[in-house]
Amino acid sequence: MISHLRVANKKAEEAKFFLKNKGYLNEKYLPIKENNFVLWPLNQASVPFEGEIIICKGLVHNRKSRDYRLNMDKKIKDIAPRSFDIFGDIAILKLPSGSEIYEEQIAEALLLSHKNIKTVCIDLGVHGEFRIRDLRVISGNTNFISIHKENGMEFEADISKVYFSPRLATERERLSSLINKPENVLDAFAGVAPFSISMAMKGCKVTSLDSNPEAMKWALRNFNRSGINEKYFSFFNAKFEDYDFGVQKFDRIILNNPTNCLPFLDKAMNLVVERGIIHFYIICPKDGSFQLSKYLAEEFECTAKREVHAYSPSSSLFVFDIRRNLV
Ligand SMILES: C[S@@+](CC[C@H](N)C(=O)[O-])C[C@H]1O[C@@H](n2cnc3c(N)ncnc32)[C@H](O)[C@@H]1O
Repeated sequence: MISHLRVANKKAEEAKFFLKNKGYLNEKYLPIKENNFVLWPLNQASVPFEGEIIICKGLVHNRKSRDYRLNMDKKIKDIAPRSFDIFGDIAILKLPSGSEIYEEQIAEALLLSHKNIKTVCIDLGVHGEFRIRDLRVISGNTNFISIHKENGMEFEADISKVYFSPRLATERERLSSLINKPENVLDAFAGVAPFSISMAMKGCKVTSLDSNPEAMKWALRNFNRSGINEKYFSFFNAKFEDYDFGVQKFDRIILNNPTNCLPFLDKAMNLVVERGIIHFYIICPKDGSFQLSKYLAEEFECTAKREVHAYSPSSSLFVFDIRRNLV
């Protein structure tokens, strides 16, 4: 028997983020889902988060059943990646070149162990301004449209025409947990609007931009799907560098175009209010040699830096939180 924190579904992700951050979440056990509630397993008897403490039998992880490579021959097991991205019911795998003859077996094993997956495809890399992923289906539907569930939200997209990364879910959770009053937010490279919607769900008024017209199409559907009132968002199919914001200023700006972001920092610094924050995403060396301070105007200060995930053996995706101080 272990302690669980029982919270309503709408508070579940906020609670998880808090518990995980503070080290209170017992990751040996799975959350228990009840009708409109989630019970998070705890490492200790109680925690400083609103909810009911319930002592009951924990739901043990059965990790083995999730490893689709368990019954494979050693040779194929060495090629098949342990982890892969999932967008809705589409699994996206990276395989080394020369492994084509094993693709079918790998896809079959994956479909057998993950009943929620309907399509398996190979990731051939991301390219161009729109950061679109080249995908090749090895099993299932050749239609790349799916609905992805994340932190209690749903994002629908055709991932052969727009960018989406499920690996940014923790970042979206982190940013929305920073909001404690309605803010004016600019999401300058919005894609299908996962960051924008996370912010709008916290009562922010969001302005979103993306130069890919397909991104706008799916983003508008996603705002509607999330039930966000039109008063709280506006989306423009435009390039950030060309868009004229007039006198408009923002409390918070999200710059999530990590392979090409430095050219846009100056414009963002001019658009943020005093005490406002810019979340600046960039791929840079893991060794700490990137000096953000060289690019910041005098009144700006970096208040936090986080490694989001590895990008290559020597580089990672980092986020820098940058604050505009009073002068
Ligand atoms: C790395 S993706 C991030 C998308 C989104 N923030 C997300 O988390 O899913 C970058 C996005 O910026 C868009 N983009 C690239 N250059 C742009 C520009 N100059 N102005 C506006 N959008 C741009 C691309 O089409 C792409 O959707």
